Amino acid sequence: MKITMIHGQNHKGSTWHAADELLKNINVEHEVTEFFLPRDLNHFCLGCYACLKAREQCPFWEDKEKLDCALREADLLILTTPNYCMLPSAPMKAFIDLFFTNWMSHKPCEEMFMKRAVVIATTAGAGAKKATKPIANMLLYWGIPKIYQYGLAVNATGWATMPEKKKAILLKDMKALGKKLSTETKPGVGVKTRFLFRMMAGMQKKNWGAGPEEKAYWQEKGWLDGTKPWKKT
Ligand SMILES: Cc1cc2nc3c(=O)[nH]c(=O)nc-3n(C[C@H](O)[C@H](O)[C@H](O)COP(=O)(O)O)c2cc1C
Repeated sequence: MKITMIHGQNHKGSTWHAADELLKNINVEHEVTEFFLPRDLNHFCLGCYACLKAREQCPFWEDKEKLDCALREADLLILTTPNYCMLPSAPMKAFIDLFFTNWMSHKPCEEMFMKRAVVIATTAGAGAKKATKPIANMLLYWGIPKIYQYGLAVNATGWATMPEKKKAILLKDMKALGKKLSTETKPGVGVKTRFLFRMMAGMQKKNWGAGPEEKAYWQEKGWLDGTKPWKKT
């Protein structure tokens, strides 16, 4: 199993350790590619829309390409963030913006419709779900059919100070999730994703997309003639 991890932080605190624990509990052979933000993608979207003409035209493509390849190649994506002020971290939000081309409303990648994803957040007291939700929402709009969200209030500012009771909960939860990820079968595309895809195809047909290059992309893929990205030809 190929796993790509994107951390919305550069440091190895509670959030990184949660993901690391999950990896330790994935009991099938796996290969991991790991990125830290902002270390591996230190940019903000400029709003130039060049990416909608062609992904490679993004001014930051040189840095984005590595992440783009790893995201496409993976069977499982793991995205992590600490809760910062009831939201994902700023570097994670910048990542969401920088990959907005992938949304079904623009130029989705067919590879995404076959993957599973896990979103992990830790928080000192409250708001873990508020941090995971925007990321899970992005993944839904990328077309990923199976998305797990995990959040834990760790009552600490870092791994070293996390109470033992909390660590025990985290280890138990990651063991259970790791087992699930190791044993469950390939995900099928659900009603929600099918509905969103059909709606976006309808928009492209009516020229309500972001431009002619976007519509041409959908046409080339055959998605305006009934072909579905989750069905291999
Ligand atoms: C800028 C910043 C904002 C934070 N905002 C919140 C918050 O709104 N609510 C909360 O409970 N914890 C908040 N925290 C605490 C972290 O979410 C928490 O300690 C988390 O587990 C840290 O994860 P890490 O060890 O991976 O960095 C914040 C921490 C920072 C640095």
